[in-house]
Amino acid sequence: MALLRLRKDEDPILRKTSRPVTVFDKKLRTLAEDMIETMHAEFGLGLAAVQVGKLRRMLTYDLYDDTGPGVLINPELISSEGTCDGVEGCLSVTETRGYVERPQKLVIKAHDLDGNEVTIEAEDLFARVLCHEMDHMDGILFIDKMSRIYVPEENEEDEEFENGEEA
Ligand code: CO
Repeated sequence: MALLRLRKDEDPILRKTSRPVTVFDKKLRTLAEDMIETMHAEFGLGLAAVQVGKLRRMLTYDLYDDTGPGVLINPELISSEGTCDGVEGCLSVTETRGYVERPQKLVIKAHDLDGNEVTIEAEDLFARVLCHEMDHMDGILFIDKMSRIYVPEENEEDEEFENGEEA
């Protein structure tokens, strides 16, 4: 396992479109393990491969509960329901956090590391993380979608958001 270098801010790769994964081999598994290690080292909730310089449609997540860590490859949104406003940060965007509207609930189809098709249902924070990471695969950052910047001093009593939540 190895820590990977995070791409940040003005790095042009963050604006590129990632390619679908077609080969499910040992190399892909190693990348997934390294991405999880890198995500954990930064206390991230999610990480897209492009954030470590790999233009592959692949993401890792961990909500630090009993659902993770997990890996999703070639994720596709099947359906979504409702909306939910919440604060996001990103391991690739230094300092800024902001409010982004995301679906409250969604269903995603993806592949696992063996190339098997999986269906994932996600709600609330999990749905938010998955949308955030899927946007990365199309070169979209949360700052493109945020309605306003989050200022911590104005939200000292905001219990919904803990400062470590970045994806
Ligand atoms: Co991000």
